[in-house]
Amino acid sequence: SYENITVETNASGNDGVTLITLNRPQALNALNSEVLGELITAFAEYQADASQRCAVLTGSGEKAFAAGADIKEMSEKAAADFYLEDFFSPWTSEIVRKTRKPWIAAVNGFALGGGCELAMMADFIIASENAKFGQPEINLGVAPGMGGSQRLTKAIGKSKAMEMCLTGRMMGAEEAERSNLVARVVPHGSLLEETLKTAATIASKPPMAAIANKEMVNAAFETSLEQGLIIERRIFQILTASEDKHEGMAAFIEKREGKWKGR
Ligand code: HXC
Repeated sequence: SYENITVETNASGNDGVTLITLNRPQALNALNSEVLGELITAFAEYQADASQRCAVLTGSGEKAFAAGADIKEMSEKAAADFYLEDFFSPWTSEIVRKTRKPWIAAVNGFALGGGCELAMMADFIIASENAKFGQPEINLGVAPGMGGSQRLTKAIGKSKAMEMCLTGRMMGAEEAERSNLVARVVPHGSLLEETLKTAATIASKPPMAAIANKEMVNAAFETSLEQGLIIERRIFQILTASEDKHEGMAAFIEKREGKWKGR
């Protein structure tokens, strides 16, 4: 049972889709340690549950996906606490690296600081017209601490990322789509429906191939082209030994839908 998030499997009747909702609307879903702890558990449960094949992360309330790390909590910590706790490290080590199955961020409003960084940890972002992205940490005398300076720069390039970090300005949904920060912008009222639909499409695919596709695309961020091409070929070759490869190709030739075993 969670206090700061809600988790729904097979969300709104979408088979295999887990919906995780940040649920501190009174603080614009600011990310404190309790939220982080619950998110780690929720993502681990999603990863472990073979019946769930794509997750969606969104924010409750009309205004925010997440307005950042919790400033009130951080204001009471000393530098030694941040260093000794390796503050923010679990986001990347526990959530990003251990969630091998796909997940989408559905950004419904403010995604600022840690909120923008959390959205960028997703495999991709679908944004409502009301979404606003920003790294305003400079206004607090600090800087991004959960990957913003790296992931934002890789997503939108140096010039825009530098401008956003140095001025703290927010980027609207239309600019975010134009800048390749988000995959798609949809009307505010249909954000959840559209994202769940996209997640259901992913959940209907052969699940091992979904993990493999994710792993390959992510390799492009970590390695040289030559190494990345080798990783791609090897994963491709491994997939050809799967039962779902035989089923997928047979289904195409026999003009029918594939029935996936997930192996
Ligand atoms: C804690 C927050 C919060 C946050 C909002 N709230 N953001 N609490 N941490 N990051 C709380 C407010 O204190 C307030 O509660 C309630 O949410 C509503 O917010 P308002 O400011 O009244 O709403 P509004 O006027 O509409 O302004 C919305 C906003 C603004 C523009 C998003 O809230 C804002 O600027 N928030 C902070 C954004 C930010 O700087 N994020 C980066 C954080 S640093 P009360 O109870 O007071 O009324 C970070 C990484 C840091 O993420 C890494 C370095 C260590």
